[in-house]
Amino acid sequence: MQAVSENEATGAPQFTVDWFSRSIPAWKHLFPRVMPRPARILEIGAFEGRSTCFMLEHILPADLDGEIHCVDTWEGGVEHGGIAMNAVFDRFRANVGATVKRFPRHKVILHRNLSSLALRALHAKGHGGTFDFVYVDGSHQAADVLEDLVLSFPLLRNGGLMICDDYIWQRQRPGEEDILDTPKLAIDAFTNIFRRRIRFIDWPSTYQAAFLKTV
Ligand SMILES: C[S@@+](CC[C@H](N)C(=O)[O-])C[C@H]1O[C@@H](n2cnc3c(N)ncnc32)[C@H](O)[C@@H]1O
Repeated sequence: MQAVSENEATGAPQFTVDWFSRSIPAWKHLFPRVMPRPARILEIGAFEGRSTCFMLEHILPADLDGEIHCVDTWEGGVEHGGIAMNAVFDRFRANVGATVKRFPRHKVILHRNLSSLALRALHAKGHGGTFDFVYVDGSHQAADVLEDLVLSFPLLRNGGLMICDDYIWQRQRPGEEDILDTPKLAIDAFTNIFRRRIRFIDWPSTYQAAFLKTV
C-alpha cells in the first residue's frame, strides 16, 4: 500500500485517453441524489487517474477527510496492448499528486496489484463494510469482473453505492463477440444472484450499471 503525497505534484493533469468524461453528466445527476457525502471510495482500475481526479474534485466533499483506494496493476488489460504502462503509472502519480495538493484533507492510497489479491488484502486489513462507493473499472474479462464484484461487495457498507463501467463494452466486432471477454456477462450474473441484496438505480446511463447495497 502506497500513499500519493502532494510533493509529487508536477503540474496540471495530463491524460492521453478519455474513457470517463461521457459518464460525468450522469454522475453529477446521481451522486447528490443517492450518495451526497461519500468519504471512502474504492476504485478498481485507475489508469492515468482521470476518474480518480474527478472523484477528488467533485465526489469527495472538500470538508471531509476523504480517502480513495486505487487498485490497479498498472500493467494494463488484454485490450491495452501497445500502451507503455510505466508511463501511464507515472502520469497517474503526477495527475493525482497535483489534484490532491488542492484538496489537503483527501488521501489517495495505491494498491498496485492484481485486484483479486488487493481486494483480499483489504479484507484481511479490516476494511470490510467501510466503503461508501465502489467504482469497478479494472479488467474487462468476465471472470475477473465477477471476482471484482464478489470481492468488493462485502467491502461496501450497507446503503453504499456501486457503479460498474463498460456494461455494454465489447472488444470484438459486432457479430464476433466473445461474451467471456465482456463485463456484461459478469455484471448480469452478479446482479441476478445478489438481487435480494441490491437495489438498481434508474439513471440516464446505459454504459454503466449502478446499484445500492441494501443488506
Ligand atoms: C479502463 S482502465 C481504467 C480507467 C479509469 N477508471 C479512467 O476512467 O480513466 C482499466 C485499468 O485496469 C487495470 N487492470 C486490468 N486488469 C486488472 C487486474 N486484474 N487487476 C488490477 N488492475 C487491472 C489496468 O491496468 C488499467 O489501468
